[in-house]
This record gives sequence, structure tokens and C-alpha cells, in this order.
Amino acid sequence: TGNTTLDVGFVNTASAESKITYIDGDQGILRYRGYPIDQLASKSTFTEVAYLLIYGELPTASELEDFEERISRHTMLHEDLKAFFNGFPRDAHPMPVLSSAVSALGTFYQDSLDPFDHEQVEISTIRLLAKLPTIAAYAHKKSVGQPFLYPDNSLSLTENFLRMTFGFPAEPYDLDPEIVTALDQLFILHADHEQNCSTSTVRLVGSAHANLFNSVSAGIHALSGPLHGGANQAVLEMLEQIQKSDDGAETFMKKVKNKEDGVRLMGFGHRVYKSYDPRAAIVKDAAHTVLEKMGGNEQLEIAMKLEEIALKDDYFVERKLYPNVDFYTGLIYTAMGFQPKMFTVLFAIGRLPGWIAQWREMIEDPKTKIGRPRQIYIGETERDYVGIDER
Ligand code: CMC
Repeated sequence: TGNTTLDVGFVNTASAESKITYIDGDQGILRYRGYPIDQLASKSTFTEVAYLLIYGELPTASELEDFEERISRHTMLHEDLKAFFNGFPRDAHPMPVLSSAVSALGTFYQDSLDPFDHEQVEISTIRLLAKLPTIAAYAHKKSVGQPFLYPDNSLSLTENFLRMTFGFPAEPYDLDPEIVTALDQLFILHADHEQNCSTSTVRLVGSAHANLFNSVSAGIHALSGPLHGGANQAVLEMLEQIQKSDDGAETFMKKVKNKEDGVRLMGFGHRVYKSYDPRAAIVKDAAHTVLEKMGGNEQLEIAMKLEEIALKDDYFVERKLYPNVDFYTGLIYTAMGFQPKMFTVLFAIGRLPGWIAQWREMIEDPKTKIGRPRQIYIGETERDYVGIDER
């Protein structure tokens, strides 16, 4: 196969030139469009960060107002799309529901699917940003057998999502401003992470000129895997399991180091970060603030114990394994009232602006070609067909 080199997992292969997100994995640096993640997490809002990622600059006050107003005008789902949720079993995981509903969205907006028509891409962008939180809230409502709520456009995107998830049509919903701020911050931390598995999926699907809805739908499926976005749910299940068993953190860590049954310390390690994930540091602080307010938490203590053991242990030190963004998020989500099945959905809401920004950058880049990796063939050489009676 000529000059083809094998790069399993694309460890050394850059698939794109990008101006969106910068990561220095050795130093633990993450910047969106040049702005350090800690500044954005403490000073910005999720919609402002979405604007920054998609359009390249921080918005002026009137640009942000216009952007948020355009989003709020598209938060409702077509009534026929609401029926779609009834096709799934009650205990369906919300990630495939989310992904399917995003594919289905494209069928409702067939006049805006041309990837090369700027206006159409723009309206699809707004529709996706506006409708994904509604879809996510309905996936949750369906799973608990509660009625859907219409969005309330006097609220921000994050407020609206919380109300549609936890509210009831019969009574007003009291928003807790601290929870709104904490969730908004978590969305900011997840908003982009350059060419990770789901983003590369979105770009690859889009490189075949598939529309934005279908490309994002594929990205949601990629994100669902436990080695990627699904890790946040897996971390909480791991903490629950340690809490229930008599073994404790030390015994669990021995299993991890001995690679017993392929057990990994979920929420640890990262392909790019070989030092502390800067997002994890911010999430850890937030976990303390949110959980202390609620009077301590045994699972947070187990998590801190696991981290403490890991940071001193040769196995983790040699392999440069540190907590990643998902190590502490599940604890915060639980404290907010989300069930573990919803955690990866929250990641998807956060990551959506990044997927859209990356897809648009890909489509607008004249150098883009259809993504088509090569392979190293290691199968049989040519052989003759043998009839079924002679095998
Ligand atoms: N627990 C125990 N050992 C680990 C872990 C872990 N969490 N992560 C990596 N290792 C070991 C692995 O066994 C291997 O050891 P050896 O050299 O002896 O074979 C070595 O470290 C290198 O691991 P790798 O799997 O080759 O590294 P990778 O870059 O392919 O994988 C990863 C990165 C994130 C998939 C991996 O660290 C992992 O599975 N972590 C747990 C799942 C997780 O938390 N995922 C969320 C990632 S951050 C959010 C996101 O972007 O989705």
C-alpha cells in the first residue's frame, strides 16, 4: 500500500487545520479561540461561548442579545416530533433517543439542508442550539412518565432546560440561581475539545456533504461510548459500586492496576492531557462547592480517595493518568437531581456548539476532502472460490 503508515487510533495524524480550540496536553492548557478556559468558565456564559466558538469572536452586547433572541424563537419542537418520543420503550437510554430525534429534525426542515448555503447552515445552527435542550428534557420526561413542558422563552437556554427537565405544567418552577450558574459553567467546560472522537465523527460524516443534523446525530452516537462522553455515567456507577461493596477504594485500585477483568479507573486518563486536565480542576472545585452546600457526600469522599491514591501510585504516574473532565461531573449532576442516564446527554448539550463550529469550519475550508482513511491489508492473498458442498 505504498506510503501508507499505520496509525491506529490516529495518535499522530492531524485530520484538519483548525482555528477553534488549542490544547497543550503536557502543560494542561485549553483555550477556545485563544481565550483560556478558566477565564471563560468564571466570566462568560454558555451562549456567549457558543457564539465565540461558532463565529470566532466574543459578541458585543447587541450581537449576544440578537443571538439569544434568535435561539429562543426556535426552542419549541414540531408537535409531530413530540409523538416520536412515544416510539421508544420507557426505559430507553436517552442518548439514542437524542441522536434519533436530531436525525428526525432534519426531516422537518428539508428546505435548509444544503451544506453550502450559508443562510441554511445558519438557520440549522440556531435550530439545533435551540432544540437540543428541549429534546433532552423530553427524553428525560418520557423516561419518568411525566408530561412534557413547553419552553418558556423569557428564560435563558440553561434555565429553560432545567425547567423543562424538572418542572411540572401544573406549578411554577423555582430556579436555583446557583444551580443555573453551575450547570452553565459545566456546559462551557464541555463546549469544545478539538478533534476528539465525536467531533472527528461529525467532521468525517460532514466531509461526505451529509447535512448538519445528520452529522451531529452521528457525533452524539460517538459521544455515547464509555471511553468518551459515557465516562461520566460510568464514573458514578463505579463510585456506587465501591460504596456498596466491602472492598473500599484501595482494593478497587488494585484491581485496576492488575487490569482484572479490564477494569479501568473511569474518569481518569486522556489521549491528549498528560498532566492535570484543566477542566477537571475547575469541576473539582465546583463539586466541593455544590456538595458542601448539601452537607457532604460519601461518593465525593470516595472519588477524592481514588484520586489521592492514583496521584501517588507508580502505575498512574508512569502512564501520566490524571482525572479528566468527567471524574467529578457525575457527582454534581446527581446533586442537581439528574439520573445517571442523563449525564452524557448533558455532555452532548455542552458539546453541541463545538460540533457545529467544527462542522462549519470543515465545510467552509476549501482544502476539505472526503475523509477516507487507508488501511494495511493483512488478510488472505488471492484464492479460488470453493463450492458449498466441498467446504
Ligand atoms: N485506568 C487504568 N488504566 C488506564 C486508564 C484508566 N482510566 N487509562 C489508561 N490506562 C492505561 C492503559 O491500560 C494503558 O496501559 P498499558 O500501557 O499498560 O497498556 C495506558 O494507560 C495507556 O492507555 P491507552 O488506552 O493506550 O490510552 P488512550 O489514549 O488510548 O486512551 C482514554 C485514553 C481516555 C480512552 C483512557 O485513558 C480511558 O479509557 N480512560 C477511562 C475512560 C474515560 O474516563 N474517558 C473520558 C475521557 S475525557 C472526556 C472525553 O473527552 O470524552
